[in-house]
Amino acid sequence: MKKNFYEAIETRRTHYGISKEEIVSDEKIKEIIEHAVKHTPSAFNSQTARVVVLLDKQHEKLWDITKEALRKIVPADKFAPTEEKINSFNAGYGTVLFFEDQDIVQYLQKEFATYKDNFPIWSKESSGMHQFNVWTSLELEGYGASLQHYNELIEEEVKKEWNIPQGWEIRAQMPFGKPTSQPGEKEFKPLEDRVKVYK
Ligand SMILES: Cc1cc2nc3c(=O)[nH]c(=O)nc-3n(C[C@H](O)[C@H](O)[C@H](O)COP(=O)(O)O)c2cc1C
Repeated sequence: MKKNFYEAIETRRTHYGISKEEIVSDEKIKEIIEHAVKHTPSAFNSQTARVVVLLDKQHEKLWDITKEALRKIVPADKFAPTEEKINSFNAGYGTVLFFEDQDIVQYLQKEFATYKDNFPIWSKESSGMHQFNVWTSLELEGYGASLQHYNELIEEEVKKEWNIPQGWEIRAQMPFGKPTSQPGEKEFKPLEDRVKVYK
C-alpha cells in the first residue's frame, strides 16, 4: 500500500548510502518524475523547471565529470574524502538534474516589469518545490536520494555532454538508488517557535 501524503512528507529523508539495484523500471522512474514536473506549481504558471534524468552509465558519467572538476580545485593531499563522497553518489542508479529556463525568466521580467526582481526568486522557489516533489516521489517508490549542489563547477561540461540549451541554469543534482543504510535520527526545533496560529 502506498503511503499517504502526510506519511510521504515525513519519510522523505537524505540518503547517502545508495546502490545500483533496480527497484522499479526506468519507465516508472520517468513517469513519476514527469508527474512531479507536470503538477508542481510555478509563478504565473510559467513552468520554468527543466529536468534531465541520467540513468546507469550516463549517471556515472556525471559523477566522473564532477570528480574531475573537483580534482582541479581540491589539494591532492585532501582529495581522498572528496573522492569518497563523489564515489558514494556514483554508487547509485541515477541522478536527476534540475534546471530553470532563464529565457522564460527574462521574458517575464520584460513582460511584467513590476515584478522584475521577483521572477528570479520565484524561479528558484519553484525549483525547490520541484526538487521536493521529485525527492518524495522517488522515496515513495523505495529509492533513497540526496540533494547536491555542484552547479557552477559542472554546468559548462554538463551542457556540452548532454546538449543542454544555454538558457537552462543548473540548480541542483539529486543522486538516487536503492538505500543501503538508513538515515540517522533527525533533531527537530520546537514547533511553537516556528509555527504561529492566530484566530
Ligand atoms: C535547499 C537545500 C539544500 C541542500 N543542499 C545540500 C547539499 O548541497 N548537500 C547535501 O548533502 N545535502 C543538502 N541538503 C540536504 C539537507 O542537509 C537535509 O535535507 C537536512 O539535513 C534534513 O535532513 P533530511 O533530508 O534527512 O530530512 C539540502 C537541503 C535543502 C532543502
